[in-house]
Amino acid sequence: MTEYRKIALVTGGNQGIGYEICRQLGAAGVKVLVGARDSARGAEAVRRLSADGAEADVIEIDVTDEAQVTKAAAAIAQRYGRLDILVNNAGVLLPEERPGSSSAELVSQVYETNVLGVIRATKAMLPLLRRSAAGRIVNMSSSLASLQLHGDPSFELGAFLMLGYNSSKTAVNALTVLLAKDLADDGIKVNAADPGYCATGMTGYASSRTAAEGARTPVRLALLPDNGPTGGFFADSGPVPW
Ligand SMILES: NC(=O)c1ccc[n+]([C@@H]2O[C@H](COP(=O)([O-])OP(=O)(O)OC[C@H]3O[C@@H](n4cnc5c(N)ncnc54)[C@H](OP(=O)(O)O)[C@@H]3O)[C@@H](O)[C@H]2O)c1
Repeated sequence: MTEYRKIALVTGGNQGIGYEICRQLGAAGVKVLVGARDSARGAEAVRRLSADGAEADVIEIDVTDEAQVTKAAAAIAQRYGRLDILVNNAGVLLPEERPGSSSAELVSQVYETNVLGVIRATKAMLPLLRRSAAGRIVNMSSSLASLQLHGDPSFELGAFLMLGYNSSKTAVNALTVLLAKDLADDGIKVNAADPGYCATGMTGYASSRTAAEGARTPVRLALLPDNGPTGGFFADSGPVPW
């Protein structure tokens, strides 16, 4: 087993902000495991990251598939023996009706990836994170999760009223707070990241903010020193209101 300084798993690491998180962690000397539900797309990301000088490997992981998540954890245990950083980045945004006419089926589909997927991946990877000297979990959230911001008439994204997506990220924030308290004695820090509105496949590239810019805060949280915060929700500008 090769000894690495730090090992990170980024779910949905093959494109968008997840890929940029892998690239920036790789540049910081972290061994990155690119979590991809499609192993060919994952392998292509690893090829690009390696060409860029990063130490990267692919891990097939669809966060909606319990058996595959368990298998991914077993593969990491066998190859590396531990995990230092888990970035729960995989997420979906489906075309939604207005909240008053949202279907329970559609909301449930979004939750399957954005909430239950995070719970599944975290539970499976926790035994490996506990073997780290300084475990870090970063949950990808969004300012759209913020109930306080939605109550502010000047909130610039206040017109995005996606019941499934927004509330899935609010649930991720709740999970972050509870998990941070539960894992405090294990020295594992858990924080939520708002990457800002970025140009990716999810947004139809409708933003001038790049995925690389969006990756900055999650990367900072992934590399927090021992005196860093836990149980918080952060953007580039600082804490985001709940
Ligand atoms: N872009 C923004 O403005 C923005 C703002 C706030 C928060 N976020 C959050 O940031 C994260 C990354 O978003 P993005 O904009 O980079 O989106 P993206 O370009 O659409 O990438 C999403 C990634 O998640 C993967 N994924 C989706 N479902 C999955 C599943 N069931 N299992 C494993 N992987 C799965 C995708 O895999 P495939 O390549 O196979 O589809 C892809 O790698 C998401 O959690 C998103 O909610 C984004």
